[in-house]
Amino acid sequence: MTELAYLATVRESYDTVAVDYAKLVPPAFEDDLYGRAMISAFAELTQVVDAGPVADLGCGPGHVTAHLHSFGVTAFGIDLSPETVAVARRTHPDLQFDEGSMTDLDLADGTLGGIVAWYSTVHTPPELLPVVFAEFHRVLAPGGHLLIAFKAGDKHRHLENAYGHELSLDVYWMSPDRIAGLLSQSGLVVDARLIREPTETEKPRQGQQAYLLARKPGKPVGDLEARA
Ligand SMILES: C[S@@+](CC[C@H](N)C(=O)[O-])C[C@H]1O[C@@H](n2cnc3c(N)ncnc32)[C@H](O)[C@@H]1O
Repeated sequence: MTELAYLATVRESYDTVAVDYAKLVPPAFEDDLYGRAMISAFAELTQVVDAGPVADLGCGPGHVTAHLHSFGVTAFGIDLSPETVAVARRTHPDLQFDEGSMTDLDLADGTLGGIVAWYSTVHTPPELLPVVFAEFHRVLAPGGHLLIAFKAGDKHRHLENAYGHELSLDVYWMSPDRIAGLLSQSGLVVDARLIREPTETEKPRQGQQAYLLARKPGKPVGDLEARA
């Protein structure tokens, strides 16, 4: 498959900011307790279903992968940016991080027990989100769960600098209804939504933040009844 054009600029931008982005990640989600709660719920769901490993897609420096690992979840990270993957590997040498794109994953059908996309779809042009969500549906095992975090709203900004560097990066705010609709169209079932207000430190630049839990329908292999 020919690479989608926007991926090159996203990759180059995150290669440029990889080290400085990682320095700004707050430890243990200390300013995002609601987000942290959704990760805990997701970890528990994937452990109950036990349908395969969890991929943290667009993992950045790997802090969500590591947080999942701390719950005993078998998790690995994938990111588009080689420099970002290098930072994740240096920061968490005991965990697996690979280069790849969520638009065209090098993973077999139905092999993941869970997917986290933590603010990693925010650079995908909205018209290409169906491509990404179709990949999520393809690689999830029946019963596997998705947790997606994103900036709630309806706007687009083009950044020419961030984290102290010049770059070229588009950021999209999306309404939770629109994301939920696209997930449903891809065949996923949306089970839960959390929309929170910006914290004091996020104001006035950030608005509401959204977290959606969705699931690929079907009976998980190794479900609770079978294991009882
Ligand atoms: C805003 S950062 C979020 C990183 C991390 N999940 C976090 O919460 O800090 C977006 C990340 O998604 C990655 N990304 C964007 N598009 C991607 C794609 N198509 N496939 C894989 N990673 C992608 C970027 O390289 C970047 O590391």
